[in-house]
Amino acid sequence: MKGALVTGCAGFIGSHLSERLLEMGREVVGVDCFDGFYPRRVKEENLSGCLGHPGFRFLEADLCRADMDEVLEGVEVIFHQAAQPGVRSSWGEQFDRYVRNNVLATQRLLEAAARRGVGRFIFASSSSVYGDCPRLPADEGALPGPISPYGVTKLAAEHLCMLYARSHGVPVVALRYFTVYGPRQRPDMAFSRFIRAIRAGREVVIYGDGRQTRDFTYVDDVVEANLLSMERGLSGEVLNIGGGSRISLLEAVEIMGGMMGATPAVRHEEGQRGDARDTWADISRARRRLGYRPTTTIEQGLRKMVAAVGAG
Ligand code: NAD
Ligand code: UGA
Repeated sequence: MKGALVTGCAGFIGSHLSERLLEMGREVVGVDCFDGFYPRRVKEENLSGCLGHPGFRFLEADLCRADMDEVLEGVEVIFHQAAQPGVRSSWGEQFDRYVRNNVLATQRLLEAAARRGVGRFIFASSSSVYGDCPRLPADEGALPGPISPYGVTKLAAEHLCMLYARSHGVPVVALRYFTVYGPRQRPDMAFSRFIRAIRAGREVVIYGDGRQTRDFTYVDDVVEANLLSMERGLSGEVLNIGGGSRISLLEAVEIMGGMMGATPAVRHEEGQRGDARDTWADISRARRRLGYRPTTTIEQGLRKMVAAVGAG
């Protein structure tokens, strides 16, 4: 059986996806450069379930510089998860990292995929391409309007994907994930911070009034959407991948407190530039095209995450 490439395999979503592919008996080539957005030791820990597996080949490499023929050797399906994530940190001096890892790296991978030919190219896009969508739930026909530099780079990468699908026949599917959570969630993200704060008896810091909502999506559902995209013969498609669990931050903190037997102290700080007020995915297209249905409720997902996240 030909292999799968998972870029960003040491990250939050990439590590879950790699493990699942290995469980299914796929050969996996994992690429990651351990960029410094969060500590290398956290990423090495993420990878621990894959390293040593006979079906796993790890390449520590930067997609902007790697020998793409080596990366794509024996690869049939590409799951392109590598990126510089983080909405609020994408302003100012940091922007060059976003352009490099989100736009340039994606173009390089698409170019190599076009040259060598691949069976499927699945791109991790983002709800951040919508910005403050005037009509919710947002469907894929809505005009994108990112309000963060991060969102601009994810939209640029998504456009590149569709361009290579049209002009070079690369069979691309772009999945717009909506705020993903679960064990190993990135340390900069809200749920991971909130759980660690509650466990350590510190204040939970909420940006703004806490009534902003997110369509939180459990990581296993995102992995499932990727697998469905591999199996279906789609190309040139953009699909929303939401979790069907739209709640406010205050509601989420209350649920976490209940699960952890604590009454969290909340400190409100100023709302952050680049944050959408609300997100809500219309997933009817993903349901039709992929048969995608999220199966993990926010209570089930948070319970698993609370069990996995330590203090700190
Ligand atoms: P993450 O930071 O945990 O994982 C990304 C990995 O990519 C990191 O380990 C990093 O070292 C690697 N990487 C970055 N640039 C690279 C390069 N040039 N070469 C090789 N490796 C590189 O992030 P995540 O939360 O797992 O996100 C995965 C993908 O999903 C990203 O594309 C992100 O934009 C997208 N996404 C995430 C969410 C979410 O809620 N986590 C939501 C929407 C979209
Ligand atoms: C997340 C990911 O971080 C992005 O990479 C991804 O592209 C995006 O989802 C997406 O859906 O496309 P975000 O929704 O900002 O971005 O996710 P969190 O970092 O978990 O933040 C959720 C909300 O909590 C935001 O309103 C944020 O301002 C707030 N927050 C975050 C806090 O109030 N306190 C914190 O300590 C952290």
